[in-house]
Amino acid sequence: MLQKVVRSAIIDAPIERVWTVLRDFNSHDQWHSAIETSHIEGGERSDQVGCVRNFTLKDGHHIREQLLTLSDREHQSTYCIVEASLPLQRYVATVTLKPVTDGNRTFWHWMSSFATPPGMERELHDTVAQGVYETGFEDLRRYLRGGADQRSRGAGPMPTALPVPTRRIGVARHGGPDVLWPQNAEAAAPGAGEVRIRQRAVGVNFIDVYLRRGWVPTMFPVSEGAPGVPGMEAAGGVLDVGPQVSGFLPGDRVAYLGPVPGAYCGVRSVPADWVVRLPPEIEDETAAALLLKGITADYLLHDLGHVQRGTRLLVHAAAGGVGLLVCAWARRLGAVVIGTVSSEDKARVAREHGCEHVIVTRDYRFAEAVQRVCGGADVVIDGLGDAARDENLAALARRGHWISLGQASGPLAPLAPDALVAKSLSFSRPVVFDYVATQAQLAERAQRVWQALADGAIRLPPIERFPLDAAAEAHARLESRASIGALVLLP
Ligand SMILES: NC(=O)c1ccc[n+]([C@@H]2O[C@H](COP(=O)([O-])OP(=O)(O)OC[C@H]3O[C@@H](n4cnc5c(N)ncnc54)[C@H](OP(=O)(O)O)[C@@H]3O)[C@@H](O)[C@H]2O)c1
Repeated sequence: MLQKVVRSAIIDAPIERVWTVLRDFNSHDQWHSAIETSHIEGGERSDQVGCVRNFTLKDGHHIREQLLTLSDREHQSTYCIVEASLPLQRYVATVTLKPVTDGNRTFWHWMSSFATPPGMERELHDTVAQGVYETGFEDLRRYLRGGADQRSRGAGPMPTALPVPTRRIGVARHGGPDVLWPQNAEAAAPGAGEVRIRQRAVGVNFIDVYLRRGWVPTMFPVSEGAPGVPGMEAAGGVLDVGPQVSGFLPGDRVAYLGPVPGAYCGVRSVPADWVVRLPPEIEDETAAALLLKGITADYLLHDLGHVQRGTRLLVHAAAGGVGLLVCAWARRLGAVVIGTVSSEDKARVAREHGCEHVIVTRDYRFAEAVQRVCGGADVVIDGLGDAARDENLAALARRGHWISLGQASGPLAPLAPDALVAKSLSFSRPVVFDYVATQAQLAERAQRVWQALADGAIRLPPIERFPLDAAAEAHARLESRASIGALVLLP
């Protein structure tokens, strides 16, 4: 006969904070004191329905459990035991969270049904009810309090502040995509002013390619003994926080963006100043696809390009990660948007995202078409670099502004001031990190991007997803000029 165990508790934390921890099917070794170690089999995501967590208990037992359902809307997940050294048979459990509006707390309902060998009913019932559920409630409360307690003490390591095993992509020498090597590593405990994040989506940006190739060696020194790890941004959940951190608690859903590479991994400690909390409607993959690229589009259009109604804007790689966001947002501002792309497929997507005049060219010939369409560009947003140099000068209108933000075709050769004088042109060479140099700037700009998405000024671009271990494939795809929209890695 099946027996049933039902337990519930009130957790003194908002529902999204509790859910961020519980929806991660592999988080329990972080917070439940009965669990020794746990991993997800086959490199699957820990919130992927069907994934199997393989864990050992402190008492030596070994269990494999499969995630059966996961609903972010209902805050509910169901899982079952597929194999266990404990004689729990046909075990199926459901975790459900409900908001408690009084005090912004969370009601946690945990129930299961299972069969046992005759004579073991009482013992196994108590193991599940007390050893797993009641202990779990207490442990999660303690885990969520960890950050707050520590902040009020101002210093001292948290009980969980140990290195955490993680997967990462190491680069031991500069070169092609094949130098990106998946490896096991440890994520250091967060130091003073840092938060440690279990990453669920990592943004891939063209700067990662420059770094891997060795084009910016000061920013990305690598060696056999000390491999570099690329990546400037990611999204996930806070695991724990270091001393002198305020504003973040374990379980918070966050994203970050910072000027020091290292994001191609599963768990990472980063300065809290790089981190923003995510609104519930912004999913991890959306954040990883949009944070750096959306903020770039924001500063290009508003701060640097002063784009407004009637501005003639030329956007290169218009169907790329940054390009699609720039097109849509510029169109919303009333600009005349002209874009270059290398294929008809890309042209179609660029049009869907607001690019009014699309020039299809694979060999960087566009100036004549731009002059024909609008008489010259007031602003050029150029991530192409050297191969487009002379055409950019020819495509600009009088007093035009050439914003050189990248060099996908190769580093731009030095530009003599006299190259600008003929049409009184201006030239900028900006980098996104200078526009989010403080936490307040980052939070404000991130909010503008989420708002732009909410009010339709930008649309979510197509997202191409790769497992973290397939980072080399993602790079090869980005460099092949075949990708459309944003690429993300899934740890
Ligand atoms: N400075 C900053 O703050 C900042 C921030 C973010 C991005 N960026 C720059 O903005 C540009 C776009 O970045 P992203 O990450 O969104 O990349 P992306 O636009 O998604 O991908 C790069 C695109 O560049 C075009 N391209 C032209 N020649 C290429 C070549 N020889 N090899 C590879 N690609 C080539 C391709 O589009 P077509 O085939 O359609 O031409 C390709 O899809 C990059 O230059 C990047 O460095 C700068």
